[in-house]
Amino acid sequence: MMASQGLVAQSPWTDAAEERKIDSILTRMTLEEKIGQMTLFTSDWDQTGPTLRAGYRDDVRAGRVGAIFNAHTAAYNRELQRMSIEETRMGIPLLFGYDVIHGYRTIFPIPLGEAASWNLPAIENAARIAAAEASAAGLHWTFAPMVDIARDPRWGRVMEGSGEDVYLGTEIAKARVQGFQGKDLADPTTILACAKHYAAYGAAQAGRDYHTVDISERTLRETYLPPFKAAADLGVATFMTSFNEVDGIPASGNKHLLTDILRDEWGFDGFVVTDYTSINEMVKHGNVADLPEAGLLALKAGVDMDMQGAVYHEFLAGQVRRGEISETYVNEAVRRVLRLKFALGLFEDPYRYSDEAREKRVVFSAENRAAAREMARQSIVLLKNNKQTLPLSKDIRSMALIGPLADAQSDMLGAWHADGRAADCITLRTGLEQELGKSVRINYTQGCEVEGDDRSGFAAAVRLAKQSDVVVVAVGERDWMSGEAASRTDITLPGVQSQLVQTLVATGKPVVVVLMNGRPLAIPEIDKTAPAILETWFLGTEAGPAIADVLFGDYNPSGKLPMTFPRHVGQVPIHYDMKNTGRPMNPTDKYTSKYLDMPNTPLYPFGYGLSYTTFGYDELRVSSPTMPANGSVTVTVNVKNTGKIAGTEVVQLYVRDVVGSVTRPVRMLKGFERVTLAAGQQQTVSFTLTEADLAFQTAENILRAEPGRFEVFVGGDSTAAMMVTFDLVD
Ligand code: NOJ
Repeated sequence: MMASQGLVAQSPWTDAAEERKIDSILTRMTLEEKIGQMTLFTSDWDQTGPTLRAGYRDDVRAGRVGAIFNAHTAAYNRELQRMSIEETRMGIPLLFGYDVIHGYRTIFPIPLGEAASWNLPAIENAARIAAAEASAAGLHWTFAPMVDIARDPRWGRVMEGSGEDVYLGTEIAKARVQGFQGKDLADPTTILACAKHYAAYGAAQAGRDYHTVDISERTLRETYLPPFKAAADLGVATFMTSFNEVDGIPASGNKHLLTDILRDEWGFDGFVVTDYTSINEMVKHGNVADLPEAGLLALKAGVDMDMQGAVYHEFLAGQVRRGEISETYVNEAVRRVLRLKFALGLFEDPYRYSDEAREKRVVFSAENRAAAREMARQSIVLLKNNKQTLPLSKDIRSMALIGPLADAQSDMLGAWHADGRAADCITLRTGLEQELGKSVRINYTQGCEVEGDDRSGFAAAVRLAKQSDVVVVAVGERDWMSGEAASRTDITLPGVQSQLVQTLVATGKPVVVVLMNGRPLAIPEIDKTAPAILETWFLGTEAGPAIADVLFGDYNPSGKLPMTFPRHVGQVPIHYDMKNTGRPMNPTDKYTSKYLDMPNTPLYPFGYGLSYTTFGYDELRVSSPTMPANGSVTVTVNVKNTGKIAGTEVVQLYVRDVVGSVTRPVRMLKGFERVTLAAGQQQTVSFTLTEADLAFQTAENILRAEPGRFEVFVGGDSTAAMMVTFDLVD
């Protein structure tokens, strides 16, 4: 698209002619109509926050709302669009947004699960499919991806992101933005993406949702901002502010975040929307006295659109008329919103995304479901597999299938499932029945509920276990136990599920534990006794077939944890890239950094995951012992499939900066590659490191690499021990 020239502002979304049209629209709009373009209201179809607004249709007719969320399907949105086009004075098309987080109707694994695949093209494709379905169903805009780095498993929203790591999270942020937005927003199968929640929402104290964030500017820039910056660099269309404060100022009124960094440093040229009523919530935060003051602060800080709060809607026109704020702020915000409406082609054809024929063809197509199944298989992480308990032989005659999640359709969707429907989901029970037909007798009983202390089902479960060749037990969390407003202090298995597993293990039968959950769980007792454990998150519509594929070896698991699994919630925050401290843990020295009652190490580290085959690493080399400034080094390693079947390994490269002007983490992921190898096959994998990979916020608070020694570790998880070194020289 041509950039506009001359006096009109530059934008990557519009050409000069469109900019002139926007100028002309702006001159013809009343102040109230302009503020309408800065207003986003929810429809009453779906509720994703605490308030609804009964009269939103009247606001549409009056031209006093420019965007609607929680309304979907081609027919429904077409009618709302018709109201805006035909019944308003200006006839400006509405923008329709929705939380299309891991699929629209075909539900893919929860984002944390997808992250466990470390498969960027597959993740991009999942977002692509979600966009294709959503755009056919009348939607223009998704409130995704959530790119919040999250290091506290108590926080329920960890399910919605890519986990704890900056590098992995940044790569996945890019893949998802690319998937939703495609190459061209004018393509009616693409939608606007939204990088959220800006910023540092994942750093909520004690993992309690909406809680205070208090981190240094260095941590903000090094840990929490990189995925946002990458999304901005890639051309993400919108940003959403977070609910939390950052350094005492709530994000929706935070000029440092929204203007200094986002606009001035990064050059972001899309629009910024708030989270649900987050302008209003500044009153409760206590940094403003009332709503009018909150609105002024938000607009001056850089918020273009008010989600559901109606603060701009109610107060802004009066404030402009009284001269409390210049209309230039309003014009700028409206221009940003209109640009994206132009980019989507809505001024050409406001109904192009409400295409019932396409909706019928695309939404929940067999092709999309097949992609969801493939993504689901790749998201599964094999946590334990003693004595090759898995894969199960198809020659077994009977299986005891136990557990409250073995046949729980609605839980398979996970939180944030848009138009996903429980009835569409294939549970593990159905998946196994489909896979095994009549050849294996499946003896199913629930055993217990997810919650509560009722053990009355244990006896039947034990009886079935004793009658069967193997036991598969599906336990974990209910779908609503993670997601927004779903923090937990206790991250063990809820209810009596752990006891159910132990009771089944005590039968002496081989027991496979299938975990379904939205966050890392602390399950040391299960790790101690159960011979095999599969982490399956919430895998979406095709959960059952995907898990069955892995249980019986039709798919060899290759997922790796995107987030550390602690032994106990008391270790939180725990992540692999911690600092060394001045007294690193030494078991024989009391006065070192450790616990009296538990090791420092996690139960399963970041990057960890087993396969039905094994991989060996050797010949780790670096191309040169020195990296010149602005130069690069290449690190190579030989990876061999040392087992008996083909498999995929995620080869991971970590770097430690030994001495810095500020302390550096013990290691940081700086590269990974998925390699698929036949039994006995080997391959050289190479990574190129440049100065940019070594940069950090130095003591002078500038982003740069400092000369000195770097250690490079390569292996199959974040504990990789093989190491080479090089020096960055001036
Ligand atoms: C609140 C959530 O924090 C945000 O992620 C979501 O997009 C909005 N509600 C809209 O549903």
